[in-house]
Amino acid sequence: MTDYAALPIDADSHAALAADDLELRLVDPADDSAVTRWLQADARGFHDSAPGAESLAAQAAEVAGDRITAVLDPTAADPATPVATVRCWPMDVTVPGGSLPAWAISSVTVAPTHRRRGIARALLTAELRTAARLGLPLAMLTVSEATIYARYGFGPAVHQAGYTIDTTRARWARPAPAGRLHLVAPATLQTDGPPVFARARALAGAAGEVDRREGWWRQALGLMPAAPGTPGLTLRAVRFDDPDGIPQGFALYRVALGPNGYPARLDLADLVAATDDAYAGLWRFLLEMDLVSEISAPLRSVAEPVRWQVTDPRALRKTDERDHLWLRILDLPVVLGRRRYSAPGTFHLTVSDDLGFADGEFRLTVDERGRGEARPVSGPAAAAADDVRVSLSAADLASLYLGGTSAVTLARAGRLSEGSTDAAARLDAAFHTIQPPHLSTWF
Ligand SMILES: CC(C)(COP(=O)(O)OP(=O)(O)OC[C@H]1O[C@@H](n2cnc3c(N)ncnc32)[C@H](O)[C@@H]1OP(=O)(O)O)[C@@H](O)C(=O)NCCC(=O)NCCS
Repeated sequence: MTDYAALPIDADSHAALAADDLELRLVDPADDSAVTRWLQADARGFHDSAPGAESLAAQAAEVAGDRITAVLDPTAADPATPVATVRCWPMDVTVPGGSLPAWAISSVTVAPTHRRRGIARALLTAELRTAARLGLPLAMLTVSEATIYARYGFGPAVHQAGYTIDTTRARWARPAPAGRLHLVAPATLQTDGPPVFARARALAGAAGEVDRREGWWRQALGLMPAAPGTPGLTLRAVRFDDPDGIPQGFALYRVALGPNGYPARLDLADLVAATDDAYAGLWRFLLEMDLVSEISAPLRSVAEPVRWQVTDPRALRKTDERDHLWLRILDLPVVLGRRRYSAPGTFHLTVSDDLGFADGEFRLTVDERGRGEARPVSGPAAAAADDVRVSLSAADLASLYLGGTSAVTLARAGRLSEGSTDAAARLDAAFHTIQPPHLSTWF
């Protein structure tokens, strides 16, 4: 088994930072003091409250198997605390018709005293080269700002939506689903949640969803020590069982009282459904909650069916829609060869990539059953008359990959050029997915 944490530090980025009197170094998970300093630097980078001893111990256990990297400045007043951090691990992401292992990149921070001198560039390019060395075809991250990662070849591939629902207007309009709701202690979902999530994630069309690691469940279920100053609204959980008593969905929520107590607002933290009945049962439960007049639901799909299940669709407002999961293609033939497509064709792709991983000419052939095979094209390309020809960047191809972005839109935006008639529309027909991709978590 590959020891991801032990792979040597990237020599190019090590040299680039050394030229600036900085040291790029792997953090040994067994070195408690180094891990603590790294966690403190990470929290500081995101303006989080300083973690207490209990929280540090829990976080240290959570990151123990990851590849943890720090940049140290021996001339800083506190030379033992990193001036930059990054953490990575391999994680599967669902793609149309299957899944793909990807290098998950997280905890990218640079201390405010050390920004804008190329440290993030050194960290990011090091991680991309490390992932490629490990044979991972894709890198991915969820981002704080949309301005940072395109320069490294990442493209936004999954968008998320936030909804505000006026529950005094949004009456349930569909038949009652078959099944039963149970109010449960959130901790019970440590056992009951993962199988439901696994089934929900395996549903056709659920592209863009990543693993939920053990630490993620603990955090989401309120089982990690809270950071100081975190407001203490009670987390509640509801589970939906099918008529055979098998859990098929659950929701996690908190209720915040209004200035005069009631009406209150319900903050939906998570809703996972492995069946349409579970989806309907859970939404109906939330919409009909007494003493609540509004639901706030962040991190949802851009196309939630619940809009079509209430009497007044205007009661449901999409108050936010933004990029969420960014993908970076490292091995283009593997990435394009792994997903299923919706229409056959031969696609000649001219891909530009400043960092070189996916740069060049490629031919993607999709058969009648939607299976794709991509190969680099070497020498003068002998294109058949009906080949679809497009030129685009590796980042924009990553945005198209899960079907959440339209090639026609990118062509109209001047980002994709068409070398044959209706090339973007034909690309869209092949890359189309039955549902927009959705990622329900941060990492
Ligand atoms: C984002 C962050 C890691 C960048 O670190 P940095 O070391 O200053 O970045 P670099 O000096 O390597 O800059 C690389 C490039 O990104 C640009 N850049 C960096 N941060 C940027 C930002 N927040 N917005 C826009 N551009 C940014 C730089 O201008 C530079 O551009 P160039 O390549 O065209 O010259 C740092 O600002 C930070 O820690 N922010 C707070 C935590 C955070 O948001 N992390 C990202 C989590 S997803």
